[in-house]
Amino acid sequence: MKVLEPLTLRDREAPSRVLFGPHETNLGWDRSISERHVAYYERRAAGGAGVVVVEEASVHASDWPYERCPLAEQCGPGWAAVADAVHAHGGLALAALGHTGGQGSSAYSQLPLWAPSGVPEVNTREMPKVMELEDIEAVVRGFGEAAALAMRSGLDGVEVNAGQNSLVRQFLSGLTNLRGDAYGSDRLRVAREVLHAVRAGAAGGIVGLRLSCDELAPWAGIVPEAAGEIAATLSPWVDYLVVVRGGIFSVASTRPDGHDQPGFNLDLVRDIRASVDRRVPVFAQGSIVDIGQAEWAIDDGRCDAVEMTRAQIADPDLVAKARAGEADRIRPCILCNQTCKVRDARNPIVSCVVEPRSGFETTDPDPDLHPRLATGARVPQPVDLLVVGAGVAGLECARVAAWRGHRVTVAERTGETGGMLRIAAAGSGRDRLALLADWLTAECERLGVAIELDRQVSADDIARADSDGTHVVVCAGSITATEPLDTNYVTDDGAVVLTAVDVLDARRRGTLGEVLPTGPALIWDPIGGPIGVSVAEGLAADGVDVTIITPDLIVGTLLSRSGDLAPVNVRLAGAGVEFRKRAVLREVRASSAVVEDRFTGELVELKAAALIDAGPRLPDEQLWLASGARHLRAGDAVAPRTVYEAVLEGRRAALQIEGMLEATNGTGGA
Ligand SMILES: Cc1cc2nc3c(=O)[nH]c(=O)nc-3n(C[C@H](O)[C@H](O)[C@H](O)COP(=O)(O)O)c2cc1C
Ligand code: SF4
Repeated sequence: MKVLEPLTLRDREAPSRVLFGPHETNLGWDRSISERHVAYYERRAAGGAGVVVVEEASVHASDWPYERCPLAEQCGPGWAAVADAVHAHGGLALAALGHTGGQGSSAYSQLPLWAPSGVPEVNTREMPKVMELEDIEAVVRGFGEAAALAMRSGLDGVEVNAGQNSLVRQFLSGLTNLRGDAYGSDRLRVAREVLHAVRAGAAGGIVGLRLSCDELAPWAGIVPEAAGEIAATLSPWVDYLVVVRGGIFSVASTRPDGHDQPGFNLDLVRDIRASVDRRVPVFAQGSIVDIGQAEWAIDDGRCDAVEMTRAQIADPDLVAKARAGEADRIRPCILCNQTCKVRDARNPIVSCVVEPRSGFETTDPDPDLHPRLATGARVPQPVDLLVVGAGVAGLECARVAAWRGHRVTVAERTGETGGMLRIAAAGSGRDRLALLADWLTAECERLGVAIELDRQVSADDIARADSDGTHVVVCAGSITATEPLDTNYVTDDGAVVLTAVDVLDARRRGTLGEVLPTGPALIWDPIGGPIGVSVAEGLAADGVDVTIITPDLIVGTLLSRSGDLAPVNVRLAGAGVEFRKRAVLREVRASSAVVEDRFTGELVELKAAALIDAGPRLPDEQLWLASGARHLRAGDAVAPRTVYEAVLEGRRAALQIEGMLEATNGTGGA
């Protein structure tokens, strides 16, 4: 495959054409690169990443956009450790350098933001200071000094950020550069000065440029036609170019979720590549999560190489598996943005719903070392294991236990694997969820797990397993609450109340007409996560008249974490879904429902043929309690949450068995 061939950047060779791009991780310590960073990048290099670009470092102390954002002058030792770790696996390691300018925050620096012009930050509305000439000089000098430090630290070079969150792009764009001086009449001037300084600082090293080639704001922003000229003008200074999109009003479009097509930038990158000197390799970026699509893009001449960032957060062994001819074994990134997106009020550490060890490499054991890369992961004392439930938690538990060498049976009461994941995948734009269920099932089968469908396990079965010495893990999932959990709405005789699960399940089976009466549907969404809105979108697409009721001031409020908040509100409004905000459901009647305004207490009656409750569910504890409440449990059976907890706890349960064996026998895990 071309994507697996080496790529020469300047005079250094990357072992593959797959780049692990720069991204916020919150793994930093103070403002430096931590041991956790080193382990995070080493894992991707070990898995075959050709180029690893370290989390962006601010080149000047005036820039401190988030608490643990690295500052270049504090990165020397950390960069050196990353260089050693990545080089040990043959990869190239680069420092991302940048300044977020007017898109930063003064919360940590207690200094005014610096920007080309007085354009307020879109989210915080913070007004920046217009940069004076000495400020520009200081930033340009900072780029050069940071590049020199990167080279002294043993890195292979640097990547300059002129992407969605960058001061360099703010100077390039008519949206944010309204200056009347020479930096306004020539908007490329700062970029040229920065690249000149970086080229001098990184003497002998690689200089890459991450360039926004479409700000999706054609009234004044960078448009693809102009970006071709910008790229051509700047290309003499650079050794590679990464084509991205997004700007001050469209930051989230650089890394959207699964509602945007994988590889959405592949036309853009083809057009930009046509403008750039062939000496400069061009990387495609943008939800490239399938190695087959990456190969196609290179083969089709759209690009020379690809950035696959989230794909390698989800599976650090992506390249190694493809090299081993096992591309079908790559754990899929489901483009959910649920735990890899770290800029939210909780300040979380980067992780991944399908691979929770991501970001936790120094603390969590790796159950997944690829068989071609590591041996000896097997337990010396295999045991029999019965996993109850073939949802995500059960399948992950079975997969890891089987990989460790245990003899595993999974008993599933329904006729299929995947549990709630397959139901959630019926929500609008969520079909990639099913890929995870497919992958877990295929891995279990490959590892010899016996999957017994339509098998209801009883407390007697568990008692028999106990007496045979078979270990048991209960992953029985969740059940619908018989009473609403979150509010005290009453249901009158004749009212039709369904759950979100009922509706999603009917949608995927094509039996919606049997379940949902004709007429307006109300969705009560007290959570504000992806489920309620995906039901609303799906029903609207099916032609149902939908109103979504939320206690919050905005629909889907938790989606701010994944970046889908504004996009989903646009999609819902476009689909004609009505919103009833800051409202609490009080009563469901035969053909209407009553909601109460949270601020005024006013009661309003809304027409409804059915009410769909998208509220929380309860753990299915029946079997666990009946068998003595002492067996291991995982996922929704403990407390219904997200895919992340299901994978994490399923895996932990499998590893816990080894701990238990070790404790009783003095032997166990390898
Ligand atoms: C957690 C996370 C944080 C990111 N932060 C940045 C950033 O600070 N600057 C930047 O230029 N790109 C950032 N990105 C974008 C990535 O570098 C990459 O371009 C993006 O994830 C799209 O590639 P992908 O679709 O292969 O993941 C971030 C991506 C992720 C997943
Ligand atoms: S959290 Fe979701 S989007 Fe992010 S890397 Fe993992 S699967 Fe992909």
